[in-house]
Amino acid sequence: MGLLDGRVVVLSGAGRGIGRGEAIELARQGASVVVNDVDAEAAAAVAAEIADSGATAIAHVGDCSEVEAAQSLVDQAVATFGRLDAVVNNAGIVRDRTLAKMTPEEWDAVIAVHLRGHYALTHAACAYWKEHGGPGHIVCTASTSGLLGNFGQSNYGAAKAGIAAFSTIVAQEMARYEVTCNAIAPAARTRITEGAYGRIGDAGDGFDFWHPDNVAPMVAFLSSSASAHISGKVFGVQGDTVELYRPWTSVAVIDNGGRRWDADELAARVHELVAASGIVAGPENAMAKLRFSMTERSAPTDRP
Ligand SMILES: NC(=O)c1ccc[n+]([C@@H]2O[C@H](COP(=O)([O-])OP(=O)(O)OC[C@H]3O[C@@H](n4cnc5c(N)ncnc54)[C@H](O)[C@@H]3O)[C@@H](O)[C@H]2O)c1
Repeated sequence: MGLLDGRVVVLSGAGRGIGRGEAIELARQGASVVVNDVDAEAAAAVAAEIADSGATAIAHVGDCSEVEAAQSLVDQAVATFGRLDAVVNNAGIVRDRTLAKMTPEEWDAVIAVHLRGHYALTHAACAYWKEHGGPGHIVCTASTSGLLGNFGQSNYGAAKAGIAAFSTIVAQEMARYEVTCNAIAPAARTRITEGAYGRIGDAGDGFDFWHPDNVAPMVAFLSSSASAHISGKVFGVQGDTVELYRPWTSVAVIDNGGRRWDADELAARVHELVAASGIVAGPENAMAKLRFSMTERSAPTDRP
């Protein structure tokens, strides 16, 4: 018995990397899987690998940021397997560059694949569940780059922070149809991280913390009815760790006794917010700490 016996799941960008591992795990848990990728060969290879293992998968080729392609992904799942139970928005690209040098094309490409891609596929799935009823499950893919802010990734981080917000809002809107929507912020050794973090060391023997397949079990859980009570949440998923992120939260407040502020008064008092919260006033690289921990953890022997 798997968590997803008899269920039907579609994934975007599942031809390689984290999505490939997710597709294989979802199928291993009993789901019939539709493996989308813009790269036809990659999608076909993963679908064939799943079929060879005795599980059920078909390939779908298309750009998930195009509304017609996203709709055809949902349509193909329903036409082939008769239903839709979960959607995993995974497809992604990076075009890293500091903002002053970033071209409009680099900005638009990243926003399109991530934000428009999440909109297009989730929209098609929600329309299906609105018409046919739930339950349904949506898994979105955010990133610590958006939750924490990573140097050189203003396009990617803006999209990924947007995806976290998107997930919490879709969760509220779709609750009445018994549809959950959660986001993960994964981290793993794939071609994307080679650009963002520099090379992450290969593992030798022992638990390979940064193996992309480590992300898949949490995604299988969030795609299943076992997670029906969890929605609108953002989970960090790395190696053998799963974290729960708190949404943007106010940590300090000042007021002006019922009068509009003068800018001068604010100039004199905003430091109180900084002092009360312990937050650094200037720009901070919260990803630096994570990057350090990534390097530490890439050694295969550092964890039991
Ligand atoms: N690797 C990490 O550490 C990390 C960290 C945070 C978030 N993520 C996110 O995880 C997801 C998977 O990334 P990955 O690291 O496995 O990268 P990857 O490059 O290995 O895989 C991404 C896949 O998406 C496909 N794709 C790209 N654009 C597409 C489109 N428009 N339509 C359909 N398919 C498309 C690619 O062909 C590729 O097969 C992405 O959303 C990424 O932003 C990854």
